[in-house]
Amino acid sequence: MPMLLHIDSSPRTQSVSSRLAAAFVRRWQRRNPSGTVIHHNTALEKLPYIDEATIQAFYTPPTDLTAEQKHLLALSDQLVDELLAADVIVLGVPMWNLGIPASLKAWIDLVVRAGRTFAFTEHGVKSLLAAGKKVYVVSARGGAYPAGSPAKAFDQQEPYLRTILGFLGLSDIEFVYAENQSRDPEAAAEGEARAETEIEAFAA
Ligand SMILES: Cc1cc2nc3c(=O)[nH]c(=O)nc-3n(C[C@H](O)[C@H](O)[C@H](O)COP(=O)(O)O)c2cc1C
Repeated sequence: MPMLLHIDSSPRTQSVSSRLAAAFVRRWQRRNPSGTVIHHNTALEKLPYIDEATIQAFYTPPTDLTAEQKHLLALSDQLVDELLAADVIVLGVPMWNLGIPASLKAWIDLVVRAGRTFAFTEHGVKSLLAAGKKVYVVSARGGAYPAGSPAKAFDQQEPYLRTILGFLGLSDIEFVYAENQSRDPEAAAEGEARAETEIEAFAA
C-alpha cells in the first residue's frame, strides 16, 4: 500500500501552499485509492525546536537511552518512521523572508538524524532512506523568482531544500511555484492557476 507524507507549514487559513498541496494529495488519492496519507502542519502543530537534552539523546546509543530520553525522542522517532515509510512526500511551503518557515526547519531538525535517516561511514555520509522516494515541493511566494532571472538568487528555499533533502538521499524533487501572491488579485490568481496546472500534469 503506497504512503504519501503530506507536510504543510503555513499557519494561514487561506494558505495558497496548503491549498495547492491539498490539490496534489487529492489527485494522488484518486490515482492511488488504496494508498494512505499522513498529514502534518508544522505551524499549527507547533513542532518544538530541538534543545540540548534532545541533541544529547540523538547522539546516545539506543541501548543506553534512559526512559526520559526515550520520551524526549518519541516525536522525532514518529516523524522519522513516517519519513522512512513514505513513498511520496509533498511539502507545502510559504516563502518567508526568502526561506522556509521556522516550523518546517523544526521538522527537518527532527528528521535529519544520525543513525536513523543518515549514517556517517568511512566513505562519508550515507542515506538510510530507501531509494526511489519522490518529493514534491509546492511553494507560494509574494513575488516571483523565475529561473534564469537575477531574482532567482534571492530564492533561498530551493537551494536549501535540494541540499538538505539530497543529504537524506531524496534527490528526485519537483518544485512548483505559486508566484506573485502579494501582487494584485489577478496576478495572484494567475500564479496559483499556473501552479495548479503543473500539479495536474504530474505523473504521481
Ligand atoms: C512573514 C512573511 C514573510 C514573507 N516573506 C516573503 C519573501 O521573502 N518573499 C516573497 O516573495 N514573499 C514573502 N511573503 C509572502 C508570502 O510568501 C505569500 O503570502 C505566500 O502566499 C505565503 O504562503 P501561504 O499562502 O501558503 O501562507 C512573506 C509573508 C510573510 C507572512
